[in-house]
Amino acid sequence: MKHIDIKKLFDGSLVGQKVTVCGWIRTCRDSKNMAFLEINDGTSLKHLQVVIDKSVTTGYENCTALGSAIKAEGTLVKAVSGNGVEVNASNVTLLGDCPPDYPMQKKRHTMEYLRTIPHLRVRTNTFNAMLRVRSVLSYAIHRYFQENGYVYVHTPIITGSDCEGAGEIFRVTTHNWNDTAKTQKEYYDNDFFGQKAGLTVSGQLEGEMAAMAMGKIYTFGPTFRAENSNTTRHAAEFWQIEPEVAFAELDDIIEIAEELIKYIINAVLTECADEIAFFDERFEKGLTEKLRRVVESEFKVLDYTEAVEILKKSGKEFVYPVEWGCDLQTEHERYITEEVFNKPVFVTNYPKDIKSFYMKQNPDGKTVAATDLLVPGIGEIIGCSEREVDTEKLIAVMEERHMTVSEYENYMALRKFGACPHSGFGLGLERILLYVTGLGNIRDVQLFPRTVGDLK
Ligand code: 4AD
Ligand code: MG
Repeated sequence: MKHIDIKKLFDGSLVGQKVTVCGWIRTCRDSKNMAFLEINDGTSLKHLQVVIDKSVTTGYENCTALGSAIKAEGTLVKAVSGNGVEVNASNVTLLGDCPPDYPMQKKRHTMEYLRTIPHLRVRTNTFNAMLRVRSVLSYAIHRYFQENGYVYVHTPIITGSDCEGAGEIFRVTTHNWNDTAKTQKEYYDNDFFGQKAGLTVSGQLEGEMAAMAMGKIYTFGPTFRAENSNTTRHAAEFWQIEPEVAFAELDDIIEIAEELIKYIINAVLTECADEIAFFDERFEKGLTEKLRRVVESEFKVLDYTEAVEILKKSGKEFVYPVEWGCDLQTEHERYITEEVFNKPVFVTNYPKDIKSFYMKQNPDGKTVAATDLLVPGIGEIIGCSEREVDTEKLIAVMEERHMTVSEYENYMALRKFGACPHSGFGLGLERILLYVTGLGNIRDVQLFPRTVGDLK
C-alpha cells in the first residue's frame, strides 16, 4: 500500500503536496460539519491530525472509532493552530474497524492495567516512546563496539554449564512429564543432548573463548535466569551486552564501560529528544538534565571496603545490616549512588566469596578484581571483572563451591593454551533502559516481560 511515514511530514517540506498516510486513530473530535482525527503509525511519538470536511471528504462515515486503522489521502497543509502540519483529507478509507470493547478507550490507563494487555499496550505513547528508545539504544551499542574494532559474536543460547554458578538455569529437555528414570545419570543420558542442558544465564564463558582469538568481542543477546525474585528490576528473560577484551585489566575495562555508557546515553539524547522529553514530563522530572550530567561527569570509583565503611557510618537503618563480607543490597547500592555521590559509581574489589568463580583473585587472598556499576534510582546495571587465568586458583575456587570441574573442560583449556590477562562485563539492556527512560518497572521496558509466575 503506497503511503508515507507520518514522521516524514513534520518538517514541513511537503506542505502543499498530496500525501497518503496510514495509522490508528488515537483521538477523534466529531461535530456536525467537521471531524478531526489524530492518527499515529508508530514512526513518531507525535500524532498527525487528519481534517475531515464532511462536505468534501469521502469515505469518512465509519472512520471515527478509537483504535481503528485507516488510510487518508489529501493535501498536507500548515496547521490552522500551532506551528505543525495537518492533512486536509479528500478521502478516508477504513482498513480495520475497532468496536467499542477496545480495551484502551480511556486517555490514560495505569501501567498495571496495561500489563494485562501486552498485545495492545504498544499503542500507547509510553510504549511507543519506550520501544523507540530501546531500538535506538541497541543500535548505539552496536555502533560503539563496531566503531571501536570489536567483533560481534553469537554465543549459544542452549548451554551445558552455569556461568554464574548460581544455579538459576532454566532446564532444556525433551523428556515428557511421565518419563521415569532410576538415576539422575539415566535421566540425563536419555535426554536430547545426552547430558544436562539449560538456557544460558550469560554468554561470557564462550565470549572469553572468542576473545582469546579475536581480541575484542561483544555479545548482544537474550539471557535467562530462573531467579525467584519478584522485584521491579528482575526478569526471567533479559538482554545482555557482554564485551570481552584480551590484554585488558580491571582498570582498562572500567574505562571501556564508562565510555560505552556515555556514548549510548548521548546517542539517545540526540536521536530520541522527543521521547526523552516525554519521559521527563510524565515519569521522571529532570530526566534530560540527569542524563546530560552523566555524559559530562566522571564516574566515581569506590573500593568495596570503603563503601562498607561509608554505609556503616551513614547512621541509616538498613533492612539488611552491613558488615564487611556482605553482598550489597539494592538499598545499600542506592544510598551510595544517590545520597553520597549522586552519580554512577563503580564499586570495586568485592569479597571473593560473594562473587562468581571466574573472577581474578587479588593478592590479598580475600577480594576479587571485580566491579559493579551502580546508578541512582536503579542500583547495579553492570557486572564486571578481570578473569582468573591461574588454573590452580580457579580449580580451588570451583571445588570450594562444589562445582563439577569436568563440565568446564574447554574453559580450563583457555588457561592452558596461551592464556593472557583479560576482562569483560555484562550490561543489562533493560536496566539501562529503566535508567534512561525513568520508567520504574522492568515489566514496562520489554514487549512481553517474562517474570516469575507470569507468561503472557
Ligand atoms: O552481574 P551479572 O550476573 O554478570 C554476568 O552475568 C557476567 N557473566 C557478565 C560478564 O562479566 N560478562 O549480570 C550482568 C548484568 C547485571 O549487572 C544486570 O544489569 C543484568 O545483567 N541482570 C539482569 N537484568 C534483568 N533481570 C535479571 N534477572 C538480571 N540479572 C542480571
Ligand atoms: Mg551482578
